[in-house]
Amino acid sequence: MVESVVEVSRLAKRYGDSTVFEAVDLRVLPGESVAIVGESGVGKSTLLNCLAGLDTWDAGEVRLCGQPLGALDNTARALLRRDHVGFVFQAFHVLPHLDVAQNVALPLLLQQRPDPARVAEVLRAVGLQALGTRLPQQLSGGQLQRVAIARALVHRPALLLADEPTGNLDPGTATQVLDLLQQQTREHGAALVLVTHSDSAAQRCDRRLHLTARGIT
Ligand SMILES: Nc1ncnc2c1ncn2[C@@H]1O[C@H](COP(=O)(O)OP(=O)(O)OP(=O)(O)O)[C@@H](O)[C@H]1O
Ligand SMILES: [Mg+2]
Repeated sequence: MVESVVEVSRLAKRYGDSTVFEAVDLRVLPGESVAIVGESGVGKSTLLNCLAGLDTWDAGEVRLCGQPLGALDNTARALLRRDHVGFVFQAFHVLPHLDVAQNVALPLLLQQRPDPARVAEVLRAVGLQALGTRLPQQLSGGQLQRVAIARALVHRPALLLADEPTGNLDPGTATQVLDLLQQQTREHGAALVLVTHSDSAAQRCDRRLHLTARGIT
């Protein structure tokens, strides 16, 4: 049996008395892409944060590359994330004092394997090869989004989490970005979990799951 890259069982998240979601089950295999849709506020970003071990939960478990995240301490979770997760955040989280190329190089530096040729390759892939020395404040929203995508891909993670990665992009650039995420999935056997409000982006994934407060179907 192929091992899941990420496996979620009976996951529940609450804030005090208010339940965000409960009983979420999800398995994503290497090379598989899954779109998660659902109305605003239903917990899509929260779920991605749980998959990456960036947030805690109230019941259930998340296994990432076979390791139960709930059983790991913060350091072990951070190392697992560093080595196996690429995350395109809804709000980018690009570091303002680093230039574009430095932001993209960050995951490789954290793994102590700097690779300027790989950084140049992903910058080219997202069409930012001419902007490597710009600071984030000198970029448009769509350019920032592509920096975030390049940074998530640069270290070829096993799990790619992308929160509305095409929200700020024109249709042509959105297609290019989805192609890149899919290429990483198909050619390198990554698992892709894509949160999106876009029907066309969801249709390009192998499966489309609808998140509600009562679970995911
Ligand atoms: N610290 C907090 N305390 C209480 N409730 C919170 C807190 N953080 C988030 N929430 C709530 O958790 C729910 C899930 O938020 P989340 O950001 O995951 O939604 P989402 O599905 O990603 O929405 P969107 O499509 O707008 O991005 C929301 O209803 C939000 O109000
Ligand atoms: Mg969100």
